[in-house]
Amino acid sequence: MGNFLAGRVVAVTGAGRGIGRAVALAAAAEGASVVVNDYGVSVAGADPTSEIADTVVKEIEQAGGTAVAVADDISTMAGGRRVVDTALAAYGRLDGVVCVAGILRERMLFNMSEQEWDPVIATHLKGTFTVFRAASAVMRAQRGGTLIGFTSGNHQGSVSQANYSAAKGGIISLVRSAALGLHKYGVSANAVAPVARTRMSAGVPMELAEIGEPEDVAALVVYLLSERAREEGITGQVYTVAGPRIAVWAQPRELRAAYAEGGWTPERIAAVLPRTVGTDPMPLLERVAEMGRAARAGERPNT
Ligand SMILES: NC(=O)c1ccc[n+]([C@@H]2O[C@H](COP(=O)([O-])OP(=O)(O)OC[C@H]3O[C@@H](n4cnc5c(N)ncnc54)[C@H](O)[C@@H]3O)[C@@H](O)[C@H]2O)c1
Repeated sequence: MGNFLAGRVVAVTGAGRGIGRAVALAAAAEGASVVVNDYGVSVAGADPTSEIADTVVKEIEQAGGTAVAVADDISTMAGGRRVVDTALAAYGRLDGVVCVAGILRERMLFNMSEQEWDPVIATHLKGTFTVFRAASAVMRAQRGGTLIGFTSGNHQGSVSQANYSAAKGGIISLVRSAALGLHKYGVSANAVAPVARTRMSAGVPMELAEIGEPEDVAALVVYLLSERAREEGITGQVYTVAGPRIAVWAQPRELRAAYAEGGWTPERIAAVLPRTVGTDPMPLLERVAEMGRAARAGERPNT
């Protein structure tokens, strides 16, 4: 066991499988007491079972660590609250929350139903809010803590997962808002965009050029939860981790501006905008075109 998180209390949602499980195991191995939350559902969010969270608690205990299970659905306010209340009841404090829980319901936008949109937004975006909401009140009062959201490279856009992409973009804005609003209370908020072999990534219909294991993601999360990251003042950041590679994303910012004397008209905009303000080409558009070409040629597209 290491001691990166000695004496800390950390709650992890979606901790029964994949990346969340690796985060829970790594946090416990580094000395944290861990709340293991998992609703125990399929990739699409169906058939809940409490066994998934219980199994990870047993694994942690067998390795000499400390953990407690919460099998609630974090897309509800009561579920998010229970994750936080369980940490307080079992361990008396809460130093970090890691919102990993997620589901997929893939469909092209023009065919997507409300039943495909709502649960994906509810699990990822609202499910991060419910836990951040309850945890941030505790962390504000104790003057410190770490909030970690899980996003995806897909926040840039997605051909067939507009629901997932929108939720992941929302999580980044939620994390930045938490970083801004809680900075003065000593609370940090960051987002992680992982690329790791799990049941969820197994369904991706392309060869991922850079992919790692859930343990690679867990190492970054443990660092972000630790005093070492707090000392560096890391907050409001989005990090990709894909096997051996860690990258930081740029903050959104305006590129170019133009001003109109006397105000804009459509005609003035048509004359000025293309040559001065211009556009910022979308890297994914080119990649999608290349993937379409590869698919038509019968190749397995590479990203
Ligand atoms: N695996 C990747 O390469 C990858 C890439 C980008 C983003 N992500 C994100 O990382 C996170 C983890 O993904 P994973 O690949 O480990 O997936 P996974 O399917 O292996 O695990 C997700 C876990 O979340 C749980 N869960 C789902 N809905 C829940 C709810 N309402 N309440 C509580 N728990 C719930 C599931 O039961 C499951 O155990 C997700 O947010 C995912 O979007 C993963």
